[in-house]
Amino acid sequence: VTNTDFYRPTYHFTPAYGWMNDPNGMIYKDGEYHLYFQYNPYGSKWGNMHWGHAISKDLFHWKQLDPAIARDTLGHIFSGSSVVDRYNTAGYGKNAIVAFYTSASEKNGQIQCMAWSTDNGRTFTKYSGNPVLTPFDGLKDFRDPKVFWYAPMKKWYMIVSADKEMRFYSSSNLREWTYVSAFGKGYGQQPNQFECPDFFELPVDGNANHRKWVMIVNINPGCLFGGSATEYFVGDFDGKTFKCDTDPKVVKWLDFGKDHYACVTMGNTPGRVVALPWMSNWQYANVTPIKQYRGANALPRELKLYTRNGQIYLSADVVKEADALRKESVSIDNIKADKKGTVRQLPDNYGYAYELDFDVTPGMSAETGVTLCNDKGEEVKIYFDMKKNRVVMDRTKSGLTDFGKLAKPHEIEANYDVHQFKDKNTKFRMLNSVNYQNDFALGTWAPLSLCEGKTYTVRLMIDKCSVEMFIDGGRIPMTNLVFPTAPYNKLKFRSADGKGSFKNVKAYRLAL
Ligand code: FRU
Repeated sequence: VTNTDFYRPTYHFTPAYGWMNDPNGMIYKDGEYHLYFQYNPYGSKWGNMHWGHAISKDLFHWKQLDPAIARDTLGHIFSGSSVVDRYNTAGYGKNAIVAFYTSASEKNGQIQCMAWSTDNGRTFTKYSGNPVLTPFDGLKDFRDPKVFWYAPMKKWYMIVSADKEMRFYSSSNLREWTYVSAFGKGYGQQPNQFECPDFFELPVDGNANHRKWVMIVNINPGCLFGGSATEYFVGDFDGKTFKCDTDPKVVKWLDFGKDHYACVTMGNTPGRVVALPWMSNWQYANVTPIKQYRGANALPRELKLYTRNGQIYLSADVVKEADALRKESVSIDNIKADKKGTVRQLPDNYGYAYELDFDVTPGMSAETGVTLCNDKGEEVKIYFDMKKNRVVMDRTKSGLTDFGKLAKPHEIEANYDVHQFKDKNTKFRMLNSVNYQNDFALGTWAPLSLCEGKTYTVRLMIDKCSVEMFIDGGRIPMTNLVFPTAPYNKLKFRSADGKGSFKNVKAYRLAL
């Protein structure tokens, strides 16, 4: 690990060299998790898109392999998905892995292509008849196919992001696709552009007899805290149309941080739905203070549906495999904190990678929380504000924050690659925002109405350049990048009205 790799995370996946964005085609097969990803093997900024490849047995120890699908004359290899063809419907062999991606070029636009692998996902053969799907209306933004098996119809379905909606197609052989329906115009955060869809069924509150379909929609730009974020819709699907439970204006976010994007789920994991987000934001993804490589995934999360105030929501909790990262631990006495705060020092060897767990009962009239501090005066402030009924993570003074602001115009141009923008206006607004304001130094927040009680169970996962918070089993997930110049080795517990209390405070050193 060289100096230019200073911010390389300890237990999050990063490519050894080159640029990474969206996770693609994730699939579990024969004891291996496959992660493909948007990859530029030639440099650490977006470009030359390939599907990179890494495998793991436990979702944490990853081994990077050669890129699986390389850019070709049809264009970039954009995001997509893969399936295991259990019944050999496509004719490439029983249990072949069949991948779907978007070829993107100025000349051909965005078209859906297919490739298959019979060596457990190591190498792929592109279908000679590509593309398998083009937009029927010449749409420019038509990408990121997600394919799934729909048992009631014994058919494959593909959901494709098509500008401001999602389109469903069906097929019996994975090659010929028939248009079924569309969903989403006017739904959710507006104005929006849909990207990287996912679609799956889950039991509600763990009840196998009450199941709902969930559509994940990643949207960029214009989200809650600026730039990109992930929302979702809950409803019913009958093989023809998706009917959303809520009215179009309702927005449900899958994460309340600023660095959770292109989140899609792992295929072929019976009994659970595992999602993997890319941990960045298109506002500054290309200019983070990293050189050798760029881009990491956030922690894998298990998704579940729960009911709250008559509505169904997704929770996203870090997968159970993360428990194996725990090394030594320290238990810290119950803390009754006051305005000044009570400081606890972490053992030296905890360094940049640790977990902090506690149950907090906030005071009602003022902020209660924990601040992660280091010897350089840098800090991440996490606090409950019961007057606003919010939990906040503030990274304004977390370390390096003005790399976006200092980016040279040509770097910004590269950041906002043309495929992200169709109109000059949006592009102008985005360039403007990076030039004249700092998109990084800010706090993100979530509504506490998603939780049940007066006491909140908080799990913080801290790594070299990230803080991920999971409250009450993932009802509130919050994922934020941070670039401290020394480890946050002090925890400052505070309660401005002296009424908040912390129990079961425990910190673990984390390592692979
Ligand atoms: C999302 C995205 C996708 C596209 C890919 C290109 O981050 O814009 O829509 O396929 O990145 O790298």
